[in-house]
Amino acid sequence: MKNIVILISGTGSNMAAIVRTARQEGWQDKFGARVAAVISNKAEAGGLAFAREQGLATAVVDHKGHASREAFDAALAAEIDRHQPALVVLAGFMRILSHGFVARYAGRLLNIHPSLLPAFPGLHTHQRAIEAGCRFAGATVHQVTAELDHGPILEQAVVPVLPDDTAETLAARVLTQEHLIYPRAIAGLLSKM
Ligand code: GAR
Repeated sequence: MKNIVILISGTGSNMAAIVRTARQEGWQDKFGARVAAVISNKAEAGGLAFAREQGLATAVVDHKGHASREAFDAALAAEIDRHQPALVVLAGFMRILSHGFVARYAGRLLNIHPSLLPAFPGLHTHQRAIEAGCRFAGATVHQVTAELDHGPILEQAVVPVLPDDTAETLAARVLTQEHLIYPRAIAGLLSKM
């Protein structure tokens, strides 16, 4: 079985989209793959409740309980590795990962970022796109490499920036597309594994 482990920090709507698509498209029969676990660095992450309702294994590895980034990443990796993952999927996981962590999962670590990378890596992407006068914004699914919000691009989606957009209205428009391209990118990878 190809196990998928999803890491979240908050609402987990991308995680939920992946779980729903996996079920609707029958990834278990089609690819021999399943979402095995959802892990959060925050106990209060809303997505954990959804994951539990779906009967998925969940865990919390709180970054605050660790003295260094490396110590947190080691604890996180230990939790992830219990599931022997074929893919580790960052879905709104708001922690910068150490080089050692990225190297450990090289080639099987994915991220979604709410901009058209390589434009606007980092935080506040929607506000920055509006302030730059962008006519278009979007989201990117990419393989994770050592450099933050960089790495080979697997999928992108484009949305218009409308004249009266706020960061919130633009974020909501982008998010609807994230929910389509993240499951698609994962299915594309699974089909080749
Ligand atoms: C998504 O928009 C995702 O692209 C973004 O956080 C949101 C999480 O929403 N990720 C990043 O900004 C990572 N740098 P979700 O918890 O509802 O999936």
